[in-house]
Amino acid sequence: MSDSPQNDSQHNDQPQEFQTLSGEPVRMVRFRIARPQREEKWGQYVVPVKGHTTLVDALEWIKSNIDLTLMFRHSCHHGSCGTCGMIVNNNQALACTTRVMDLVEEAEAAGQDRKSFAIEVRPLQTMDHLGDLAVDPARLFRDFPRDADYLRPSEANKGSEVPQEIAEYQRFENCIECGLCVSSCPVVTMRDFMGPAGLASYNREVTKHPERSGELLPQVDSDRGVWGCDRHLACSQVCPTGVYPAKHIVQLQKKIKKTKQEPGKE
Ligand code: SF4
Ligand code: FES
Repeated sequence: MSDSPQNDSQHNDQPQEFQTLSGEPVRMVRFRIARPQREEKWGQYVVPVKGHTTLVDALEWIKSNIDLTLMFRHSCHHGSCGTCGMIVNNNQALACTTRVMDLVEEAEAAGQDRKSFAIEVRPLQTMDHLGDLAVDPARLFRDFPRDADYLRPSEANKGSEVPQEIAEYQRFENCIECGLCVSSCPVVTMRDFMGPAGLASYNREVTKHPERSGELLPQVDSDRGVWGCDRHLACSQVCPTGVYPAKHIVQLQKKIKKTKQEPGKE
């Protein structure tokens, strides 16, 4: 084990591909990781990658084998806690559901040189930076409605039989509060805007609790709120759980217009 912050020098001495004793193929893959608080700003690491290796696995390997000081957030390892959002090769993604070999195959399909190719990883934008790839999610939660309901009735698939003993299912909202939408939104980077995750949460709350419309709709009826959206739709493209925040923003806009046309019918 080395405590060197970079292991790039090892790269040229190692075969790029080999097999484990059980015959599983292993590929040495180079990573370029943002380390903004360091003088060199970027760290280069070469990591042994198997077919199932995710980006979180690779970061954990670097932390265990090369540099214990590498900072990143993660918890569940299966796309549900929302803590491992990062910018990977310029795309916002969850590190735990990003398979490294998919990135390698994409690069090869795009004709990138095998030896010089590196997967570039940066922290999410528009949130305060804690160190390396770790960001403070406070910015994300700032504009969620107060006392929002995190549960909703679950839908049953068409034709499925709902067990009789369970009168009503409840499930958590789809949003895992990962912040990918807020990081990808060009408006959030340019001006004060509540952002897609918070606005989507407002719409869900108003939909579940129409009696709160009179309280909540005025809170988003501004250029900081729903009228600040320029419809780039990046939020809906990057959302890993199919929330489609842009759709919620449009629905909120329609609800606000309706309450103005038909005052009292909220
Ligand atoms: S709306 Fe989607 S991208 Fe945005 S925080 Fe929620 S899960 Fe993440
Ligand atoms: S570690 Fe939980 S979503 Fe990635």
